[in-house]
Amino acid sequence: MKVLVTGGAGFIGSNFVLRIRETRPDWQLTVIDALTYAGNRDSLATVEGDITFVEGSIADAALVDRLVAGTDLVVHFAAESHNDNSLDDPWPFMESNIIGTYCLLEAVRRHDKRIHHISTDEVYGDLELDDPNRFTETTPVNPSSPYSASKASADLLVRAWIRSFGLKATLSNCSNNYGPRQHVEKFIPRQITGILEDVKPKLYGAGANVRDWIHVDDHNDAVVAIIEGGRLGETYLIGADGEQNNSQIIALLLELMGKPADWFEHVNDRPGHDMRYAIDSSKLRAETGWTPKYQDIRAGLTQTIEWYRDNEAWWKGAKAATEKTYERLGR
Ligand code: NAD
Ligand code: DAU
Repeated sequence: MKVLVTGGAGFIGSNFVLRIRETRPDWQLTVIDALTYAGNRDSLATVEGDITFVEGSIADAALVDRLVAGTDLVVHFAAESHNDNSLDDPWPFMESNIIGTYCLLEAVRRHDKRIHHISTDEVYGDLELDDPNRFTETTPVNPSSPYSASKASADLLVRAWIRSFGLKATLSNCSNNYGPRQHVEKFIPRQITGILEDVKPKLYGAGANVRDWIHVDDHNDAVVAIIEGGRLGETYLIGADGEQNNSQIIALLLELMGKPADWFEHVNDRPGHDMRYAIDSSKLRAETGWTPKYQDIRAGLTQTIEWYRDNEAWWKGAKAATEKTYERLGR
């Protein structure tokens, strides 16, 4: 099978490419990535000779048309992905996440191919801390930030192309990923690399906000399970029952990295900060048999800390620039 992976130099996309090389060696992979600040070709260094890499934007309709024509399946990860950046400058989110997805959908329709669209639980808005419900596939979209609104818009385009044009597509909405090769702007790698540089973790607001953490390999295995066993036209929520609040994550990182429990600082909160995300992934589990391999976030975080400790050259360059941006934002 010929597979076009969009955003394959980013965090989840590069882990997908590496995992597919191991688990589905017969898949022929082409990556399209614009190599924005979030894309890093070094993430693909070990498989460079086994894949085709194209530097370019998914919003370039002519390029996308040519690449889609020569593929069987598109796995669509490419996006601007950071909420804080979307609050600072929303435009790149509109261009990559909405227009880029539109260009892919039209090319997939023209050439009668298949697409799996990667999305996020954030499209559903947030939950109260004491809400007994979790997000399901029928939860209405209610996004809070320019990032999540752009992802919800892309999801709605995919659903409309399925209904109006019979597009061969599946969608998945996953909760917060962690693991190797995640940009240092994100919560967990920001704190791990900070601690490695002897800088205290930064907690937004009171730290009560809850995220439903999943290891990136478990997310990507679920994507493969949907491609191979999911029903066309359907949406699947991906989650590993990993709810933790941000204070708990910082406490665990401090413990695992040998620092005192009170060695962190509170910083300004994110405007419009979503309180809680929580996923009910029973549809995915029942239809595909997928279950997460990392049942315990402690094991996954230990592996992730080791990766950042061993791969300083991968993150060091981005760290200073990222912290400069956070300094400007007061976070
Ligand atoms: P990331 O920011 O690490 O990587 C995104 C990649 O897309 C980068 O390599 C970037 O260069 C590329 N890109 C951006 N705009 C592009 C464009 N116009 N054309 C081509 N390439 C472009 O993001 P990530 O965390 O790996 O997220 C991947 C996908 O998964 C996104 O769609 C995101 O919404 C979704 N998602 C992320 C999480 C998470 O916790 N990180 C959870 C659920 C869903
Ligand atoms: O839920 C899925 C989403 O998870 C994805 O769609 C996004 O692409 C991904 O970035 C992530 O969004 P969040 O906004 O939840 O992730 P982030 O890593 O930015 O923040 C996680 C939590 O940690 C959030 O409550 C904000 C908080 N935070 C973040 C940073 C960077 C801190 O307390 N301190 C920090 O320094």
